[in-house]
Amino acid sequence: MGKKVYVTRRLPGPALEMLSGCKVTLHKRQTPPTRKEILKNVVGKDAILCMLSDKIDREVMKVAGPQLKIISSYSTGFEHIDVAEATKRGIRVTYTADILAEATADLTFALILACARNVVAGDRIVRQKKWKVGWMPDLLLGQNVHGATIGIVGLGRIGSAVARRAKGFGMEILYHNRRRNEKAEAEIGAQYRSLDGLLAQSDFVTIHTTLNDASRQLMDKERLQKMKKTAFLINTARGSVVNERDLAAALKKGMIAGAGLDVFEKEPLGYSPLLRMKNVVLLPHIGSADRVTRSRMAEVAAKNILDVLAGKEPDSAFLVNPQVQR
Ligand code: GLV
Repeated sequence: MGKKVYVTRRLPGPALEMLSGCKVTLHKRQTPPTRKEILKNVVGKDAILCMLSDKIDREVMKVAGPQLKIISSYSTGFEHIDVAEATKRGIRVTYTADILAEATADLTFALILACARNVVAGDRIVRQKKWKVGWMPDLLLGQNVHGATIGIVGLGRIGSAVARRAKGFGMEILYHNRRRNEKAEAEIGAQYRSLDGLLAQSDFVTIHTTLNDASRQLMDKERLQKMKKTAFLINTARGSVVNERDLAAALKKGMIAGAGLDVFEKEPLGYSPLLRMKNVVLLPHIGSADRVTRSRMAEVAAKNILDVLAGKEPDSAFLVNPQVQR
C-alpha cells in the first residue's frame, strides 16, 4: 500500500480520487475532528490534508512522527498551522493560495449589496407576507453602491479582485496596505490612504488582510469610531481582525450604519448580540464556497501532497515555507 494520508473532512471535487493510490484515513463526519481524534489519526502519517478549523501545532507534528512530510491545507489562511515548527522539522506546508480570490471577492460584493440595498430584509418582508402595498416610493430605501467610496484594507489578491469589481460599479477605490500596490494604483485607479484616512472617507470598509499580530483586533472601538456614521463594515477575511464586542456596541449606538460578516472570532457563531440586530448580514464562512472554486482547491490540496510524497517540490505558488530544505 502507498503512503499514509490523513484527510480531516470529506471534500467536494477530485481530491479523494486523486489520493486513491495512498492509504487514506478519512474523517467522515461533517463536524470537525476533535483534538483527540486528530492526535490519534495523525500517528504514522506521511501527509495531512487539513482544514482551517484544524489546529496543527507542535504536539500534532510530534505525535505524527518524523515521517510526516507535508501539511496541505484546504484554505488560503494558514494561521491554524505552526509554520515555524513545521519548517524546523522539514515538513512542507502548502495552502490553496490565490485559487479562492475571485470567489471571495464575489461574496464580498454579495455582502456589500445585501447590506446597502436591504436584500435580506426585503426577502423577509415578502416571505412573511408583510409586503402589503405593492411598489412604494420609499420602501426599503438603501444606500447607493455605484459611485460610493470603498476602502479596502489589505490589497493583496482578494483585495485586488474586490477592487476590480468596485471599478465596474463606478466606485471610488481607496486602499490601505503594508506596502503601496503601484500596479493596482495604475491599473484600477486605487488610491493609497493611511488607515485613519481610509476609515474617515469610505462608505464601505472591507477587510482583506491576513490575520497576524498587526491585524488582530485591528477594527476596535477606536477605529470603528473613525468610520462614517453612514458606512458599512464588511469582513470576509478573519473574524479576529474585528473586535466583535466593540462592533456590536458600535452598531447598537448607530456609530456605523451596518455590517456584513462572513467570519467571526469564534466559529460557529454562538450567542451574540449581532444575531438580534437588523443592520447586519451574517453568513457562515462561505467566502470560497462556489462549486468550481472548492473543487479546484481540493485538486490543488491533493496535488501538493502527491508531489511531495513523490519526492518533488510542490508548485511554489502553494508552498508556504520555501525555506524548508530537502
Ligand atoms: C477561508 O477562509 C480560507 O482561508 O480558505
